[in-house]
Amino acid sequence: MNAADYRSFADDWERRATVRTRPRRQLEDDDKLIFPVCRQPLVLSATFLEHCPQWRDFVLVQSFYKFLHDVVIFETEIVDKTARSIAKNHFSLPFPLACRYDAMTVVVDEDYHALVALDFLQQTVAMTGIQPLDLPEHIELSRALPAAQALAPPHLRDAVALIAVAIAENTITHDVAAFAKDDSVKASVRGLMADHLSDEGRHAQFWTNLVRIYWQAASPTDRDSLAEALPTFLRHYLTNELQQRFDLHLIEHLDISAPVRRALQDEVAALDFPITRQHPLLGNILGFLRHSGVLQTPSVVRALDGYLPESRRSA
Ligand SMILES: [Fe+2]
Ligand SMILES: [Fe+2]
Repeated sequence: MNAADYRSFADDWERRATVRTRPRRQLEDDDKLIFPVCRQPLVLSATFLEHCPQWRDFVLVQSFYKFLHDVVIFETEIVDKTARSIAKNHFSLPFPLACRYDAMTVVVDEDYHALVALDFLQQTVAMTGIQPLDLPEHIELSRALPAAQALAPPHLRDAVALIAVAIAENTITHDVAAFAKDDSVKASVRGLMADHLSDEGRHAQFWTNLVRIYWQAASPTDRDSLAEALPTFLRHYLTNELQQRFDLHLIEHLDISAPVRRALQDEVAALDFPITRQHPLLGNILGFLRHSGVLQTPSVVRALDGYLPESRRSA
């Protein structure tokens, strides 16, 4: 695809964008969970179940706060920033007006997602009386992006941001999907996820198209420089370190005996998510790289050697 072939999704946005179509969701005071246990394995650990199951709701509420807080950082600091600069034609890569218009719809969607996240945060504090613990300033992406940009020549900073956002917007989709279907979770929270997911399907397509347009026009030297930054990006993006740190912080705030605390800390420390070919998010990322044409470049295949399925690896 080149820039001239770009087809706007503006009509689709008018008909389907959640900011255009969904009423405000109200958190219901029922006995369903506020956050799926599959997203917080700490509460499923043997030590937790045996010694402090009464802390389950506290842990889930705090994990929900972290999730919402991460959404706000992701949307307002990263996706909004890149989409906004494309919309305003401040991006180093020029895109046609139809792309810029669509980019502005992404800005609106993402800021709306951040607003909804803050709404749920506020409603949850009001309903539970539980105050959020201090939450980290960073998410994986906000560390991965500058790390990758530092490796690329200055004129490629925007291109790195474009690819990084496109990768994130193509992984989040799957991530969010699992949430929306979990029956044990409150209906409003599942609704929040389903709303978000329905917008993200459009975004994933948008970013994939932009990367495809960019990649086709990029020089072989620029493609190779971007390929070299990819492994560093993925290492920071896929790490489990921030989640682990949050879990350890959370354990410090449970009113439990010292030996139980120790045992929980050991369990969290042992929960390692090695970044290998089996990493759960890698399938989505490789799918994106294929659809955008990036993975058809030999230097990319070489750079990602350790992440690719055997059949696709270079010799
Ligand atoms: Fe979003
Ligand atoms: Fe998005």
